[in-house]
Amino acid sequence: MLNFSYQNPTRIVFGKDQLAQLTKLIPPGSKVLLTYGGGSIKHNGVYQQVVNALDGFDWQEFSGIEPNPSFETLMRAADLVRREKIDFLLPVGGGSVIDGTKFIAAAAMFAGDAWDILAKGAKISAAVPLGCVLTLPATGTESNGNSVVTRYETQQKLAFSSALVYPQFAILDPTVTFSLPPKQAANGVVDAFVHVMEQYMTYPVNAPVQDRFAEGLLHTLIEEGPKVLNQPDNYDVRANVMWAATMALNGLIGQGVPQDWATHMIGHEITALYGLDHAQTLAIVLPSLLQQQRGPKRDKLLQYGRRVWQLQHQDEERLIDDAINHTRAFFEQMGVPTRLADYGIKADAVDKLVAALQANGMVKLGEHGDINLDVSRQILQRAV
Ligand code: NZQ
Ligand code: ZN
Repeated sequence: MLNFSYQNPTRIVFGKDQLAQLTKLIPPGSKVLLTYGGGSIKHNGVYQQVVNALDGFDWQEFSGIEPNPSFETLMRAADLVRREKIDFLLPVGGGSVIDGTKFIAAAAMFAGDAWDILAKGAKISAAVPLGCVLTLPATGTESNGNSVVTRYETQQKLAFSSALVYPQFAILDPTVTFSLPPKQAANGVVDAFVHVMEQYMTYPVNAPVQDRFAEGLLHTLIEEGPKVLNQPDNYDVRANVMWAATMALNGLIGQGVPQDWATHMIGHEITALYGLDHAQTLAIVLPSLLQQQRGPKRDKLLQYGRRVWQLQHQDEERLIDDAINHTRAFFEQMGVPTRLADYGIKADAVDKLVAALQANGMVKLGEHGDINLDVSRQILQRAV
């Protein structure tokens, strides 16, 4: 096992009727900015519950944070935070709203050009504290220090990480996910699945705790994921998917093990150039990447095939093929197509995506740093 130092400061408040806890979780006397997206929270009753819980606080709101939140919008919010001397941020929404608000938290207290936080990895030394209400289980952002922001002007989708932007608390009420459109619920299952794979599907370092946790999450997503589509009103299914998605990217399973993240980095370029949903890009890239990297990932692919998909063939090459085919079939079963062509993207996109990877310095990806631009090109060609 590799060395690690792990701390996750986010308090998770999980279950039905937990939104009212907000009143006690926000530090007394805070000047609060409630942030949200395009208005889904106004249609499912979440907004009203939050407003009720904010009674007695000095608060205001900022809405319109887009899916794949834009730098431009977030900078307007950061200005508002500075101007109004906001000292607590309360994002209510999915990954985009929470990620976007983490960036607002950092940008509002950053002295220079806040784009440098994303483009140059400029370190932040302070951030406005935040706590969140999650409405879409997928990204794990509710209890991690990551944020992904898109600059529409330059078609760049870039991430930053900081311990300073972990939410202080995250309210996870599975009933708020009943209103999710099936497509978004399915996206969430695929995203969480790929988060586990990014931290598991590398090479063995004799870390059975991490492996078994990861395999448990994959099993859960394979079993519960399709039920989200078939039994959308089943509370237990929603609860299990919600907790699995948090556990997939709260840092725990990734401690002490190598990590990949090439699927995400290549996927981000597809979103930046063609606007696909985050999970759609992952469903396209991961099966091709596993096929391309079957050599370096061989031991883990065999373990995954045997333990997660219960494959028992003697022929190891066939076992690996089947493990990859099952992965692709699972995404398709969730209604998330796995080829660029399924989204109307033609083969000439490969050159553009490789150029974008190069421009953003994504030239040594993967757990071995061996996914250079040529390898990325082959992965994308397999995905056409
Ligand atoms: O904007 P509103 O009106 O809220 O609608 C949203 C949005 O249109 C809607 N929605 C959310 N909760 C709902 C709901 N509709 C009905 N009922 C509900 N309960 O769903 C749509 C998509 O929301 P979005 O937040 O964009 O989705 P998701 O949670 O999948 O987040 C995706 C973003 O997270 C980033 C992605 O790159 C992408 O920008 N990621 C963040 C990560 C992190 N911070 O660790 C890791 C991930 O790999 C990912 O990169
Ligand atoms: Zn993701």
